[in-house]
Amino acid sequence: MALYSEKVMDHFRNPRNVGVIEDADGIGEVGNPVCGDIMKIYLKINDEKIIEDVKFETFGCGSAIASSSMATELIKGQAVADALKLTNKAVTEALDGLPTHKIHCSVLAEEAIKKAVKDYYDKNGIEYDPSIFPADHDCEHCCGN
Ligand code: FES
Repeated sequence: MALYSEKVMDHFRNPRNVGVIEDADGIGEVGNPVCGDIMKIYLKINDEKIIEDVKFETFGCGSAIASSSMATELIKGQAVADALKLTNKAVTEALDGLPTHKIHCSVLAEEAIKKAVKDYYDKNGIEYDPSIFPADHDCEHCCGN
């Protein structure tokens, strides 16, 4: 079996939603201190709290790029509250799997989206339960290499 699924290769070669939203309503940036990869997510959110647009910049490995691309596709057009429920497992499943040692790359996507939503909540004075947001990246589930 190939190491990477066709979907991973497709999203790596033709990533969707790459770029910057200049007037983003929420921005989330996370980095993996071990491999040094960085992911940044930009959200444009309307008055109904729907994610109208989402873009990403990822300086990282192919799995991180494919994960960002898939994650942005999954949350585009969704309610902000639903985007918060996106897990790295869902991203990985949508990509038809990632090699075990690359699962942490999809964690970056989940965390960057959560951080961008938190930024949106903070900027707009929207109350939330802080426990739904992870503390800054802990390296526990991250690359052990
Ligand atoms: Fe660093 Fe994939 S995110 S190796």
